[in-house]
Amino acid sequence: MKVARTIKEFRSARAEVGRLALVPTMGALHEGHLSLMRLAKEHAPQVAVSIFVNPTQFGPKEDFTKYPRPLVADLELCKSVGVDLIFAPDAREMYPPGEAKVTIDLPELTTVLEGAYRPGHFAGVCQIVAKLFNVIQPDIAIFGRKDFQQLRVLSAMVESLNWPIEIVPGPTVREPGGLAMSSRNRYLSADERTRALAINRSLVFAESQIKAGRRDSDGLIQWMRQMLLEQRLDIDYIAAVDPNTLAAVSSVAGPVVFAIAARVGSTRLIDNLLVDA
Ligand code: PAF
Repeated sequence: MKVARTIKEFRSARAEVGRLALVPTMGALHEGHLSLMRLAKEHAPQVAVSIFVNPTQFGPKEDFTKYPRPLVADLELCKSVGVDLIFAPDAREMYPPGEAKVTIDLPELTTVLEGAYRPGHFAGVCQIVAKLFNVIQPDIAIFGRKDFQQLRVLSAMVESLNWPIEIVPGPTVREPGGLAMSSRNRYLSADERTRALAINRSLVFAESQIKAGRRDSDGLIQWMRQMLLEQRLDIDYIAAVDPNTLAAVSSVAGPVVFAIAARVGSTRLIDNLLVDA
């Protein structure tokens, strides 16, 4: 496994390989990331992983400085699933001081849900993913469904900018009990971890109600809210949205994504479930 710390090093390693699938990450890898890497291997003979905690996608009050950075353990995990190339630059490599800032904006998709609570977040995500795509030149890029709005925004970016990159979604991997795997789960105490299970429970409840024929998402969201409040979760949003436009859906007639962002203690978690009526 080749580890490149600079753009120059990565580019010379890239020149040696053909079709390449990329799994972009911020490190602190877990089974969810490893499943994306295994999926990447099914799509291309060579797999690259980027590891970079991107400062521009964190808000001023968010966890950028405390975000875990266990690089040595991350590299071992990548090796264990047969990753070929790693790109692990530092912040100066990706954002040299004085470099002009470039913003890619997809306002229809980035002002709702996470975008409404984390202003500037998707501008930061688009900026770094665009830079990574230009350095890494992947044929395929894999993003998890857990960050479903990110997946939608980046798919739209690639389509709108005519980038010759296929975006492949990877399934959400869950811990026993249903908690979606996330690098931020390591901040949770045992009690918070138990209370956080209400997030997935409420999504599964919504799914079962839709499958049983219920169509009013507003009523369902009230029930879901109740389930989260009973566990003392601090809710940013619970929404039912169209998977493509991200517009709110009040009467379910086709595929709908139920999405949640809530804080358990000081840890903010997101999760979602695609339900097809
Ligand atoms: O999903 C993530 O880990 C990040 O948002 C990404 C796509 C690696 C960009 O920094």
